Amino acid sequence: MSWGLSNRVSRLTKDGRMVMLAVDHGYFQGPTTGLENPRATVTPLLPYADSLMLTRGVLRTSVDPSQKLPIVLRVSGGTSILKELSDEVVTTSIEEAIRLNASAVAVSIFVGSEHEKETLANLSELVNEGERYGMPVLAVTAVGREMARDARYLGLACRIAAELGASLVKTYYCEDFHKVVEGCPVPVLIAGGKKLPEKDALQLAFNAVSEGAVGVDMGRNIFQSSNPVGMIKAVRAVVHEGKTADEALRVLGGEQAAKARLR
Ligand code: 5RP
Repeated sequence: MSWGLSNRVSRLTKDGRMVMLAVDHGYFQGPTTGLENPRATVTPLLPYADSLMLTRGVLRTSVDPSQKLPIVLRVSGGTSILKELSDEVVTTSIEEAIRLNASAVAVSIFVGSEHEKETLANLSELVNEGERYGMPVLAVTAVGREMARDARYLGLACRIAAELGASLVKTYYCEDFHKVVEGCPVPVLIAGGKKLPEKDALQLAFNAVSEGAVGVDMGRNIFQSSNPVGMIKAVRAVVHEGKTADEALRVLGGEQAAKARLR
């Protein structure tokens, strides 16, 4: 691994773990609930994230360039929720990622979907380009509408991503998740998925890191919470301090009580 690539990966990591805040949903979902005004959503959360995953459009319009948070730039897209989701292309060049001072680029792969081959080619081309410039690639194992999120499927997708040269893989938590991690020779992060009750989302994060995930790349379970700042602090407590879901819920409760006192 080149020095530059290793350095960029290390920027994303604090104490060997990662809390990546995902706010890239609009690239195929449009104005997702909670992200209608990206600047308003993201700004208060920045102090508590280790890195921020988003598209160049939201980065350029909605994030102050003076902030120091490492950026993971979503560079695949070209589809919408109205069409076949796997039909993605690479939307943003590595040169643009470097101009934007990104610490990594992110691309989705759709294993088992209609455009599996094209999405794996997108990943491979980005890895080739990334090696040239020292830019790590985060592969996102997107789940096609028909795919079961079980360890067999997610293990297959994560392993293929690692074999093609991804530096990091983002996937979903599932039963027997440790098997997914064991079969993937690069660090694994989990997405939160659809909004869950806070305790369930914290339990998901706890289970994932207990079973070997390096951290979370979480979006909706943070920014759709009634208390997004409290929720990201609670997620940090799980990922960085090894707190259980119940302990982290007290972090969230404390944040809520402090907010109420200020009212
Ligand atoms: C979409 C993504 C999102 O960033 C990902 O789904 C993470 O967000 P959430 O925790 O809301 O699932 O990569 O393809």
